This record gives sequence, structure tokens and C-alpha cells, in this order.
Amino acid sequence: TPHPRVFSGIQPTGDLHLGNYLGAIMNWVKMQETHECIFCIVDMHAITMKHDPKSLARATRELTAGLIASGVDPDKAILFHQSAVPMHGQLTWILDCVARIGWLDRMTQFKDKSGADKEGASAGLYVYPVLMAADILGYKATHVPVGEDQKQHLELARDIAEKFNRDFGVDLFPIPEPFIQGAATRVMSLRDGTAKMSKSDPSEMSRINMLDDGDTIMRKFKKAKTDADALPSEVAGLAARPEAANLVNIHAALSGQTAADVLREFGGQGFGVFKPALGELAVEKLAPIAERFRELKGDKKTLDGILHRGAQQANAIAEPILQEAKRAVGF
Ligand code: ADP
Ligand code: NA
Repeated sequence: TPHPRVFSGIQPTGDLHLGNYLGAIMNWVKMQETHECIFCIVDMHAITMKHDPKSLARATRELTAGLIASGVDPDKAILFHQSAVPMHGQLTWILDCVARIGWLDRMTQFKDKSGADKEGASAGLYVYPVLMAADILGYKATHVPVGEDQKQHLELARDIAEKFNRDFGVDLFPIPEPFIQGAATRVMSLRDGTAKMSKSDPSEMSRINMLDDGDTIMRKFKKAKTDADALPSEVAGLAARPEAANLVNIHAALSGQTAADVLREFGGQGFGVFKPALGELAVEKLAPIAERFRELKGDKKTLDGILHRGAQQANAIAEPILQEAKRAVGF
């Protein structure tokens, strides 16, 4: 059995929010303690859609700062940006010639992201899942944490790995498995309990940004949309109350408890009590992260040093694997 190795990526687009932290970054911080982890800021994925070249490098540095402030430790995990390691582009070409058009045509995210104008979408957006396959296979990663939206892309990476090994008669790429951990917290908008908290929501009140100050966090939780009933004493009582469920889940994730624990404490209380308590908990947990984030984000030299070292570590793993892949296809 291959040596277990986790690969995970995040795009340098938009400001980090509580959904990114509770849904993705907190898991990275946990995984780095138990697994060999390769964490990649996927700036090559970020140019598949219209982007601003003047701010891309800054966004990469800022995300690096946010990840480190949130607890990602470059001494425990490899942290780097994709465009700094040549393997990603080079292996993508080889894998483009392994993947089938029919496989890519079935990818639902391309259909969603390209919108009405399929003909006007970039070819990069279309082959994005092949770049993602190279990201994973180019490190012989065995485990990939994936949310619902990336499951289909991981399936494609598995199909590409199998076909490559079969076509070229090698046993080069391990077939990557989804990394299943406790149900990742899905954080919903504070203005609509049925929509995901997202950077693309036009309402600032819908999300907690990781750089929000304490007053802003308190105000956003106090103004969060809810019904007028008291909290139930058991989780079953949250079933038809998405806004209440979301606030309870956020409390649970931040305090490291279950929703049942939170309701044992707050069941029977109204939002007049629960919202300020949740706001104070969030400020207590997020203020130190925001402080470190603000300090680091302007420190270009430190951040570039961290990314440079990470790229060297990543390249040391990827380069020999790329050479094996090149030999397998006959280069
Ligand atoms: P956004 O949805 O704001 O555009 P991204 O798509 O850049 O965020 O997501 C970056 C990471 O954060 C992904 O792993 C994604 O699954 C996670 N994530 C984003 N929004 C949420 C959310 N509301 N709840 C849980 N996880 C989320
Ligand atoms: Na992820």
C-alpha cells in the first residue's frame, strides 16, 4: 500500500470568510497533525475565469497569511502556490492526452461555471478537472478531502490514474481516495438559512469575514435573520428552522461541541440571549486569528519566503514523479 499523503487546494479569490474557515481550513489544521499534507494555493485554477492580473500575486500572499493565521503550519505541512511548481502544467498536458472528451463533457461544474455562453468559456475552464488530476497525481497523493462539489472531479482523477497506468503498463499513480472526516460544517448565509455563506453574496451582512473586527462580528450575529421562537432543547427541533440550525451549528463548530451540547446549554432561551453569546464566542475565537492575519498580510518578505520554501519542498516530490510519467509515455 502506498504511503498516505493528503493533497488539498484552495483558490486565491476573494476574502476569507467563516465558511472557508469552519468548512475547509479548520480541517487542514487538524489533518496536518496526523498526515503528510500538501496544501496548495491554486492560482493556475484562478485564471480559468476572468481575473485581475494586477491583484493575483497579492491575493496569493493574502491567502497564505490567512491560512497561517488560522493555524496552518508550514513546518507541519507543505504550503505553496501552484504556478511555482512546473509539474502542474507539464503533467496536465500528458493527462489531457489520457482524459477523454466524453469524460469532460459530463462534468457538471463546467456547465454551471460557464453559464449560458459555453462557446465563450476558456478551454482552461473546460480542462480544469485535468489540472486538478495533475495536482493530485503529480504528488502520488492517496487522499483528497473533497466537498460535495468536487466529488465528480475526484472520480475523474481516479479514472485518469487508472487509464494512465493501464495504457502505459505501469503502476505509477495510486488511485486517490476521498478523505472522509467528520461531516464538514456547511455554514449558511446569515441572511438566508438555505443559501451557502459565500464571498459572492452581494450582502456583506450575509457573512462573517475573517478580518471583521469584534463590533462588526457582534452586529452581524445580532442582525442575523431568524424566526422568533426560543431554541429547542433537542436537535430534532431544528429540523424546519434552517436559520436557527445554522447559528447552533456555527456555535458548535467554534466551541468544539456537538449541536446537542449547545442546545443542552441554550435550549428554551430566545435569540436575544443566544445571538450575543454566539457573537462573543466568535469574537473570542476569531479576534486572535484576525490580529495575526493583519500583521502577516503586509509582510511580503516573510510570506514570499514561506511560499518559496514550500515550492521547493513540493517540487522535490513532484519532479521525479513527472520524470516517471514522461518516461512512461516515451519522452
Ligand atoms: P466561496 O464559496 O465563498 O466562493 P470557495 O469556493 O473559494 O468559497 O471555497 C474555498 C473552500 O471553502 C472550499 O473547500 C469550500 O468547500 C469551503 N467553503 C466555502 N464556503 C463554505 C461554506 N459556506 N461552508 C462550508 N465550507 C465552505
Ligand atoms: Na478542500
